[in-house]
Amino acid sequence: MSTNPFDLGNDAAYQAWREHKLAQAPRALDELVVEVGDPGRLSDAEHAAILERCRRANMALYVSQLGEREGTEIVRECGRQFGLQRLDHNRGAETDAVTALTVRSDALHSPYIPYTDRPIHWHTDGYYNRLDLQNHALLLHCVRPAARGGENALIDHELVYLLMRDADPGHIHALMQEDAMMIPRNVVDGVELRPDRTGPVFMVTADGRLHMRYTMRKRNVVWKDDPAVTAAVSWLEALLNGDSPYILRGTLQPGWGLVSNNVLHDRSGFDDADDPARKRLLYRARYYDRIAGT
Ligand SMILES: [Fe+2]
Repeated sequence: MSTNPFDLGNDAAYQAWREHKLAQAPRALDELVVEVGDPGRLSDAEHAAILERCRRANMALYVSQLGEREGTEIVRECGRQFGLQRLDHNRGAETDAVTALTVRSDALHSPYIPYTDRPIHWHTDGYYNRLDLQNHALLLHCVRPAARGGENALIDHELVYLLMRDADPGHIHALMQEDAMMIPRNVVDGVELRPDRTGPVFMVTADGRLHMRYTMRKRNVVWKDDPAVTAAVSWLEALLNGDSPYILRGTLQPGWGLVSNNVLHDRSGFDDADDPARKRLLYRARYYDRIAGT
């Protein structure tokens, strides 16, 4: 018999996991904050403190002493300390596969909303990737925030699963269907960069971990024509648009970063400073690996 709490057929394993998960769930962003010197060279205590939070909540925030220091190696070296090696080299990334998120107007970047100042609805990163090349970890490092806005909301995808299963296990069943969602192909200048991709919202990986693929952006997804899927998606939208105490909000400041197992997140719109040299700049790294030890 399965001992996996994410198996709908095993209520005992689920209830034990659920109790533990809720008991340690953070109710405020402060609980996830770790002060560090240099995120690329963590002390053993700093590393342990970040890992402990990632085990608890699939995410941690570090507040470092780097201030506005630039360099994509900051985030790469941080990731390496958590066993994160296999970077997803998405289109628009720099040569080392880390992406500099800043407002860009060139033809390569401007079609994609992360490079604009517009709000980005709730999602996990890389949901449109092949199912065997999902982004299991996501790191962000802030060099400079916007003059106004650019706040992130965050919620642990395991808590989303828990709240949904408590509300109606049928929702989980619907969203674990292998054809629950279809991500339409991406065609640029007549060239298909990515085919249609069909898959589930909730997946259990080979090693028993829960992974979530999701976007609230309607034009990026075609939901299965199935009343159970429609009901589950409505429930999820209501949760994410509501005032759940498990939704944590904050704006990364210079030298701050997020270490996560690709939890659900959004970003509010923002206004950049008038000085072009003071534009919002965040580095983002996406990995096929999950944070080691979580
Ligand atoms: Fe994202």
